[in-house]
Amino acid sequence: MKQLWIDCDPGHDDALAILTAAAHPDEVNILGVSTIGGNQTLDKVTKNAQNVLSFIDARIPLVKGEERPLVKELNTAPEAHGDSGMDGPYFGDNHYPVERGHAVQHMYQSIVSAEDKVVLVGLGPLTNIALLLKSFPEIKEKIDFISIMGGGISHGNVTALAEFNIYVDPEAADIVFNSGIPVVMSGLDVTEQAEITVDEIHSLKNKGKVSHLAYQLLDFYNQSGRQFGFINSPVHDLCAVAYILKPEIFTGSKHDVEVITDDSDARGMTYIDKRRHTKQSGNTYVLTDVNRKDFVALLTEALELLDSR
Ligand code: BDR
Ligand code: CA
Repeated sequence: MKQLWIDCDPGHDDALAILTAAAHPDEVNILGVSTIGGNQTLDKVTKNAQNVLSFIDARIPLVKGEERPLVKELNTAPEAHGDSGMDGPYFGDNHYPVERGHAVQHMYQSIVSAEDKVVLVGLGPLTNIALLLKSFPEIKEKIDFISIMGGGISHGNVTALAEFNIYVDPEAADIVFNSGIPVVMSGLDVTEQAEITVDEIHSLKNKGKVSHLAYQLLDFYNQSGRQFGFINSPVHDLCAVAYILKPEIFTGSKHDVEVITDDSDARGMTYIDKRRHTKQSGNTYVLTDVNRKDFVALLTEALELLDSR
């Protein structure tokens, strides 16, 4: 049984990643979910996390982290995720509990007390995770690896060179990539292959209640994706969870990933040195390909499992 902590900024794709992980309690134990200002403000993404967790009657501790990146102001992504950060479905009122205290403190306590090493999942800007590693460096021994959605070796999405999660807080990403902890990077290279088609989205509409929620999320996300040139919808964040559940559907290679943190046009860019003679510790496993059909099946089957509960 893998022990997970999920740090996120829901976010349509964050929500689908949480749902997929929650559908497999026999394989992964979600110790907690923490939120970070990213796709929307901290209060909005926390409300979205409450809505998702309450929708499936989860009993997973939820806690708020940082409102903003380490150095710069927060850039949100309303064009992609709407004003709420997760537009589409209507959720009624819910009182899903938000723990008192800060995410970093909760992550620390939970990881220290876990029997096994923990896999940290980062689905938003890496601010909380970087603060955890800086505040409690001894925690590194208890972290198996960090599975992140972020970056891209060949291109960006916020700018030509930088992907959103890394662009929002490159200083935090730099800390994570250089922490010495193995990182598995689901960057745009792989996540833009992890698409769900329009027909597949529509096939979720008249199944159970959780599949219908996923339909509503993906329908909005699919429409908003059109402005960025997508016909189908890349479910970026789900890759970071899918890798934990089904690593065999991915391929990748090990590299040292560097992050540009200066104020140039390349701010937030992730890159690797491909020259053969450079010595690399290769502590990042950069995912480059995914079997799209297996990826979509993982999602739809997880939704069916939740529907049948
Ligand atoms: C990433 O940015 C966010 O908008 C998504 O939730 C995902 O984590 C994709 O670049
Ligand atoms: Ca996200």
